[in-house]
Amino acid sequence: MRTQVAIIGGGPSGLLLSQLLMRAGIATVVLERQTRAHVLGRIRAGVLEQGTVELLRRAGVGARLDREGIVHEGTMLSTAGGMFRVDFKARIGEVVTVYGQTEVTRDLYAAQDAASATILDEVSEVALHDLTTEAPYVTFQRGGEAQRIDADYIVGCDGFHGPSRQAIPRDKRTEYERVYPFGWLGVLSRTRPAAEELIYANHPRGFALASMRNPTLSRYYIQVPLTDRAEDWSDAAFWDELRRRLPAEVAEGLETGPSIEKSIAPLRSFVTEPMRWGRLFLAGDAAHIVPPTGAKGLNLAASDVHYLSEGLIAAFAGDGAALEAYSDRALTRIWAAMRFSWWMTSILHRFPDQTDFDQKIQEAELRQLETLASAQAAMARNYTGLPY
Ligand code: APR
Ligand code: PHB
Repeated sequence: MRTQVAIIGGGPSGLLLSQLLMRAGIATVVLERQTRAHVLGRIRAGVLEQGTVELLRRAGVGARLDREGIVHEGTMLSTAGGMFRVDFKARIGEVVTVYGQTEVTRDLYAAQDAASATILDEVSEVALHDLTTEAPYVTFQRGGEAQRIDADYIVGCDGFHGPSRQAIPRDKRTEYERVYPFGWLGVLSRTRPAAEELIYANHPRGFALASMRNPTLSRYYIQVPLTDRAEDWSDAAFWDELRRRLPAEVAEGLETGPSIEKSIAPLRSFVTEPMRWGRLFLAGDAAHIVPPTGAKGLNLAASDVHYLSEGLIAAFAGDGAALEAYSDRALTRIWAAMRFSWWMTSILHRFPDQTDFDQKIQEAELRQLETLASAQAAMARNYTGLPY
């Protein structure tokens, strides 16, 4: 088989890239290891920056998002001293849209089907070859048969554990990493959200987040030790612990119910540089991971795909400059989001080795955020998304 761009991974990065390229008349093939049902069963964050919303509209997948997405003009922060609000709209005139990543992925699959895209699911043994030549190719197994795709470019959108990043020789990439000493236990429930906006809570027992997907579907998280297992947390124990960490007035009115999904995710910051090796380009989680605090994961995947689609479209039209610049452009924005998600993580969580001094600094940070318009503006700018 031959195509112009072979895309490894059918998550949001791979599907959005394929969609943008196909709309520009460029042929793609997407290779996905899992079934579509599996990909659509994953629960991930649900806060979209305005730039992500606009990109999804440009990709032709904005209709349901525009109908069902919930615009949030600010967020709540809860501390020992009480709850306060950061008003994004008032501070910088920007907003975010609450719309689940699962829904984004569903819309992308529907659009790709309508465009008769080639998405090969349940592939295995994906291997990348001849990446530094003019004729790179991918080999894989599907339905018991060995297959090969030749392409002009190969894009790794295969997430943190995929083979693409590993195809870059170890001495040609630099990896930066921070692993945090706790995880997030997340619960999805068919209940009314705790509040109109998200609540990020700093509490002596650990961080908590009250989030939502829509008016009848809530998403909650609590910070837990990495040694905890989701199976050991009963729904009742989860709700009890969440109530303790939320402000009393919110906890009192909290609607609880059976969990639809319950899982623990570790927190990590990770970047690999550069995001290119010959004719291989990386995008999304294949190149970087942010801790979920601040919901930057999907938004960074979107900005990578924006820069990369521009670069590839220009390259096929004979101008390779934007593609040459891809890795540097993407990494500038990625490091800004790395800093922001690290900062939000560090001011909101209880660290096991936190000293009294660290504790006082955390309180001072939160107090600045509560009282200084300039601190709120900086947070609002980063939370709603830095410009592309
Ligand atoms: N062969 C083919 N596909 C693979 C392989 C492989 N060897 N390994 C992984 N994949 C697929 C996964 O099954 C998954 O569907 O690549 C896809 C990667 O998707 P994501 O992990 O969702 O990554 P990405 O598309 O970059 O999306 C980034 O998703 O993970 C969240 O927090 C992240 O919100 C961010 C967004
Ligand atoms: C979520 O709704 O899953 C979510 C929202 C905001 C975050 C992280 C996760 O910062």
